[in-house]
Amino acid sequence: MAVEPAELTRAMARVPSPVTVVTTVDASGKRWGFTASSFCSLSLRPPLVTVCLDRTASTHTAFVTADMFLVSVLAHDQADVALRFAGSGTDRFAAGDTVPCEEGLPGLPGAAARLACARQAVLDGGDHSILVGRVERTFTGGADPLVHWDRAFARPTTALPVG
Ligand SMILES: Cc1cc2nc3c(=O)[nH]c(=O)nc-3n(C[C@H](O)[C@H](O)[C@H](O)COP(=O)(O)O)c2cc1C
Repeated sequence: MAVEPAELTRAMARVPSPVTVVTTVDASGKRWGFTASSFCSLSLRPPLVTVCLDRTASTHTAFVTADMFLVSVLAHDQADVALRFAGSGTDRFAAGDTVPCEEGLPGLPGAAARLACARQAVLDGGDHSILVGRVERTFTGGADPLVHWDRAFARPTTALPVG
């Protein structure tokens, strides 16, 4: 019998994940963005990453057709940005805190990292689409990243001694 969504999300809540804001600009110049924890490294040669986007999201058409997108990996003090880019029916860019970054795409200046990607492929991922991005440019900042686990935001601070 198939695992129910509530059972899966309960188990997956134990998996710490990054918090990113993924952005693009369409042909008319309109900016699009959404908060994503599904961001993941895929390949080094060639440099590929993935991010999964709900097929029903208002941003879906924009991202599956976009030539380029930018992933801003949020810093520990950007939980408010994460919530804003997950909100529905609002202008997520109205706060004015995104600026043109790598490849001219709108990004968060205080991000822990940014990766500008060209669309390599869009794969079937059940009720999500898997955006495969070829990384064209990166920025690595010094801020601690924001993480999401147990349905809450957290800041990873303690490096454990190993060995
Ligand atoms: C911490 C967090 C992580 C999220 N991760 C994803 C994700 O990886 N993929 C996704 O499609 N939506 C994710 N969402 C939800 C989207 O940000 C957004 O709320 C959803 O696409 C609905 O947006 P819409 O109003 O544009 O349809 C996440 C939301 C939060 C708060």
